Amino acid sequence: MNLQRRKFIKTATGVAALGAVPWYISRQAFAGYSYQEADFINPLGFPVQYFGKVKNGKRVFTLKIQQGKSRFFKGLQTPTLGINGNYLGPVLRIRQGEEALIRVRNQLPQASTLHWHGLILPAKMDGGPHQPIAPGKSWQAQFQIIQGAATQWYHSHLHQQTGAQVYQGLAGLFYIDDDFSQQAELPKDYAIDDIPLVLQDRNFNKDGSFRYISSMHEAMTGIQGSHILINGVVRPRLQIERRQVRFRILNGSNARVYQLHFSDNRKFVQIASDGGFLPKPVQMQRLILSPGERAEILVQFEANESVMLQHKPLPKNNFGFGMMGMMLSVNDRPFNLLRIESKNAGGDIHRLPEQLITMPSWFDHTPQKHRQFELNMSMGMGMMAGGRGGGLTINGKSFELERIDEVVKINTTELWEFSNQSPMAHPLHIHDTQFKIISRNGKQPPRNERGFKDTVYIRPGETVQLLNRFQHYSDPQTPYMYHCHILEHEDQGMMGQFVVSS
Ligand code: C2O
Ligand code: CU
Ligand code: CU
Repeated sequence: MNLQRRKFIKTATGVAALGAVPWYISRQAFAGYSYQEADFINPLGFPVQYFGKVKNGKRVFTLKIQQGKSRFFKGLQTPTLGINGNYLGPVLRIRQGEEALIRVRNQLPQASTLHWHGLILPAKMDGGPHQPIAPGKSWQAQFQIIQGAATQWYHSHLHQQTGAQVYQGLAGLFYIDDDFSQQAELPKDYAIDDIPLVLQDRNFNKDGSFRYISSMHEAMTGIQGSHILINGVVRPRLQIERRQVRFRILNGSNARVYQLHFSDNRKFVQIASDGGFLPKPVQMQRLILSPGERAEILVQFEANESVMLQHKPLPKNNFGFGMMGMMLSVNDRPFNLLRIESKNAGGDIHRLPEQLITMPSWFDHTPQKHRQFELNMSMGMGMMAGGRGGGLTINGKSFELERIDEVVKINTTELWEFSNQSPMAHPLHIHDTQFKIISRNGKQPPRNERGFKDTVYIRPGETVQLLNRFQHYSDPQTPYMYHCHILEHEDQGMMGQFVVSS
């Protein structure tokens, strides 16, 4: 084991010393377009792993939501928020079957929450807008990990403040392991061949502070930052030591959609989606990830390679009609994300089984109940007057904290149909479930979307059918959310609530 590497891992998140050229911070245009391979010089950092402590049969985690300062650019300090640190939070690690007890203390001068995205759990433990933690107060979530291995995450979900708080840094990864993930021949040495990549984009002011929404256009499309951060590092460079590497990728951006590929167009294998392993590994060359989505991929390297992970402009059907679609598509150009060097890469290439996991039998059920949802953005007066209550709706309604939109019966297999009638794409996320995507515009989804999903990217004009089944927890009082994971859309009302009744 490389000791220096280990030491680095402990201290690296967002605080690595960075060589940079502060002048381009002031540019509002997307700086990423101009970065060449040689600009990617900052060592990629990794969040610390946090295994908690087992006490009385529970795995106990203590989290503090706090203010901090991070150095993304040389000579500039950025006020940030973090969990047990300056920016982002630790990777929580737990095993299927274990009971988690997570103590969250809010040390901010404002309220906050932590939501466990992708987790199946009682509504009271969900950490959504109904579980705010007042400044200086604590909150405790306790639930059993009933689902299998997966790369989940957690983030602030404060009513109308999710976008701003996540933007400042309130997010982290949450890994679940199970028998299969521990026994299968998969890369699993953290930060060596099992590498987290949290993709985010941020705007900066001249003084180094983050710049959040500053125009109508940004509020409407969601904020697109002018700099890309991976694990809190700008223009990162990663030196790998193994021939086979697993990347666990989270699109933790507020609104940006990535189409990832490698500069030499090498193939890779996707092994997991949002909620865990795919039924079968899928060969890929490009991977689209919208905000909130995760993917695990395996990539092979030979020694002495240097390759860039890049964004490739999305296909035209990702952009809708009208001014908005036009502006979004014009702004979508290729850029670099991460430089990967494999100088001394060695070791074995593991053979993957043909079949990874079997999907639950309800994935083949005939639905007993249908629900329809229409996503809409009206560009009328409501929008111009400042957004809320106007433009962003599901079934014509803007989010209300006190209104339950859907009542779902426990142990019922349901078809949820979302049709996007708006001029832009929306990543639709549902709490407390890992659903199956039945169809996109009547057709089977691509092979990498046939596993567990909790967030689905819905293009303009597209209709997506999902199969859902809530079979573990009911609570007629406390709702779960479903919403667009463009956080500015969520905050402006593109969100609804459902309860699970017994
Ligand atoms: Cu990742 Cu309701 O959120
Ligand atoms: Cu969620
Ligand atoms: Cu949206």
